Amino acid sequence: MSIGRPAGQLWRRPDSRVEEAFSLPLLSEIARAAEEAKFDALFRADNTRLDFSRVRVSGPPHYLEPMVVLSALAARTRHIGLIGTASTTFSAPYTLARQFATLDHLSGGRAGWNMVTSTVGEENYGDQPLPSKAERYARAREFADVAIGLWESWEPDALVLDRAAGVFADDEKIHPIGHRGRHFSVRGPLNVHRPPQGRPVLVQAGRSEEGRDFAAEYADIVFAAADDLRGAQAFYADMKDRAGRKGRDPDSLKILLGTHIVLGATEAEALSLEREWTDGVDVGKAVEYLQTVVSPHLRLAELPLDEQVPARLLDAAEALGEEQHQRGLAWLRTHQGSTVRQLALRHRQNSLHLGFTGTPEQAAAELARLFRARAADGFVLSHSHLPEGLELLTSGVVPQLRRAGLFRHDYEGPTLKHHLGLR
Ligand SMILES: Cc1cc2nc3c(=O)[nH]c(=O)nc-3n(C[C@H](O)[C@H](O)[C@H](O)COP(=O)(O)O)c2cc1C
Repeated sequence: MSIGRPAGQLWRRPDSRVEEAFSLPLLSEIARAAEEAKFDALFRADNTRLDFSRVRVSGPPHYLEPMVVLSALAARTRHIGLIGTASTTFSAPYTLARQFATLDHLSGGRAGWNMVTSTVGEENYGDQPLPSKAERYARAREFADVAIGLWESWEPDALVLDRAAGVFADDEKIHPIGHRGRHFSVRGPLNVHRPPQGRPVLVQAGRSEEGRDFAAEYADIVFAAADDLRGAQAFYADMKDRAGRKGRDPDSLKILLGTHIVLGATEAEALSLEREWTDGVDVGKAVEYLQTVVSPHLRLAELPLDEQVPARLLDAAEALGEEQHQRGLAWLRTHQGSTVRQLALRHRQNSLHLGFTGTPEQAAAELARLFRARAADGFVLSHSHLPEGLELLTSGVVPQLRRAGLFRHDYEGPTLKHHLGLR
């Protein structure tokens, strides 16, 4: 379950508890509710910029730093996994490997790292432009190799703790990694002994060729973004196939589909919440933002708000064939029947992820359908609002899935790898 602040404009509801959104008591309450419901993990997303265009009305998606949040939550939970985003573009591998090893120790083997290459935030890390995607993923691979080398730099039995013999650690079982590469020089070994899970659970969320290949090789979990069944199925099949071609058991790569759900006790209530979510959004700004995602060559902001995007403009933008806009343009193609206003609001609500609005029964049926249709092994769910959104998720959706035999009754073991069925 993804935890952040209330979605969109829902922070304005009188009982949203938005004042507490950055406080440990509320974050702990959410974490414990998710743990009581037996979710696999909490997920804390992140990027490293304050988006001025959003802060006035809906706030940027994240404020608090994930490693610090998850460390605090490790102390207030006992079973649930703790997955946080950290960037391979804006961090150093020794530092991050140490932090995740520490989180894995403190939580008793519950840490997971969402390895992102970042698409924003370069202005906060020097004067250089954001490296190209190919360059970012090349660095990410080397970063992951170094981090894995560091986690493995202590053999499993290197920590001896033999009081009688006076041996704390067996230094013959602790090895420097001597890494000298294009991006990093790291001698090692790590100054934290081997984490309980061997290494934290590795997560990747790339959509591009580079991202998919990186995920197929390194990740235990892929966070998928698709906004319809067919798109999700195609991504799922492609990732399982890539994992197989890398010589892995495809089942060892778990594909979790990012899904925003708006829950109401009745369908009417859910639909009204959905309207509230986007009420008060500056549509002009939302269109401008969407334009940067789909393609700056497709001048959405100059089109009439209540008309569809003319097919010839879409064709022309696609013909330019720019890699970074393929996904946005494909999304636009699948929603060609919508007006510019509807597109902007839809994108504002779900970005390019799957969105669902309805009752807990309907949500459970939809999630079950996606799972059975091999569109996902699981989901990264965000609850839209507090307190009812979370309550309807944990006490409404989860029991329905449990009755269908699709959700655990209890944790299978102590670590996140146990929850995920990974060795
Ligand atoms: C469920 C989910 C969660 C994500 N979380 C983050 C995040 O916390 N930080 C981030 O920078 N990107 C995040 N992403 C975006 C991906 O890391 C990636 O940049 C994006 O899917 C584009 O793929 P590409 O890098 O291969 O072009 C997330 C994507 C998904 C589907």
